[in-house]
Amino acid sequence: MANIILLGPPGAGKGTQAKRLEAERGMVQLSTGDMLREARTSGTGMGKRVAAVMDRGELVTDEIVIGLIAEKLEKPAAGGFIFDGFPRTLKQADALGDLLASKGQALDAVIEMQVDDAALVARITGRYTCGNCGAVYHDVTKPTKVPGICDVCGSTDMKRRADDNEDSLKQRLMEYYKKTSPLIGYYYAKGQLSTVDALAEMGAVGAAIAKVLDKA
Ligand code: AP5
Repeated sequence: MANIILLGPPGAGKGTQAKRLEAERGMVQLSTGDMLREARTSGTGMGKRVAAVMDRGELVTDEIVIGLIAEKLEKPAAGGFIFDGFPRTLKQADALGDLLASKGQALDAVIEMQVDDAALVARITGRYTCGNCGAVYHDVTKPTKVPGICDVCGSTDMKRRADDNEDSLKQRLMEYYKKTSPLIGYYYAKGQLSTVDALAEMGAVGAAIAKVLDKA
């Protein structure tokens, strides 16, 4: 059992690798992005405010996302948790440490997924996901085997995200460098940081992550 963070900019491949780890190791993906996308469909005032912030490519408040994670940690995961897109600020990182400690658990590894910013536009603008099971695809690097039909669940409900455009990506990258990249130093200083080359082909990235996990 291992609790890990996948840390990297938008399009680094965090969601892709988290889904692989769920399937291969029985771990549980906790994606604050997915939780917030679910909240925005609720039609509540909070959902509408979250939607506007996400579409601008800015970060939602720490209080909201820490609350979402705290709720999910109530249900134990035998294989461990994969934190995907959380934490994104130093305040969130401190809160995660406290939440895990309060449950007698620890963080086993923080995996920084390194990519070139130049590769991210193509990754983000080509992405689509299955609206039913959340499987992640790409027009060029990972299309569905049969066009328009999910390989995993057979659904035809394919979706593109409202924030997957070049303008929003610029803002998301800015937020990443200003608020999230300091976490690299934070976890390095704690001796928990490992780095993988996330520009490599998906299977090779998965193998590099598996190597880190097997040592954790
Ligand atoms: P979130 O949903 O977390 O988005 P993100 O961090 O911007 O990351 P992405 O989901 O865009 O990318 P990914 O790294 O998962 O890449 P993927 O595997 O899909 O957050 C969205 C918004 O929610 C934020 O902007 C913010 O507003 C809010 N939010 C979320 N969490 C928050 C928090 N903690 N605090 C505050 N606000 C928060 O891959 C991308 C594409 O590339 C896919 O098409 C995939 O098929 C392809 N691909 C993946 N790997 C490879 C590879 N190795 N080679 C070639 N193609 C690849």
